[in-house]
Amino acid sequence: GENVMEVAHDHDVELEGACEGSCACSTCHVILDDEIFDKLPEPTDEENDMLDLAFGLTDTSRLGCQVI
Ligand code: FES
Repeated sequence: GENVMEVAHDHDVELEGACEGSCACSTCHVILDDEIFDKLPEPTDEENDMLDLAFGLTDTSRLGCQVI
């Protein structure tokens, strides 16, 4: 399936993805609704490490390229 970053790009939504989905940047940071966030599998340690570097991190932040 396509991840959130790819879906955003398909629909011309502004969302960066500097590392093209390899979990090596934080430019695809997205802030999700609580209901959606709660339904997702837990982020991996790699994702959490990159999220810590994201600008404006929130309790419902994820990396768009890691959310399917
Ligand atoms: Fe780089 Fe998602 S595009 S972590």
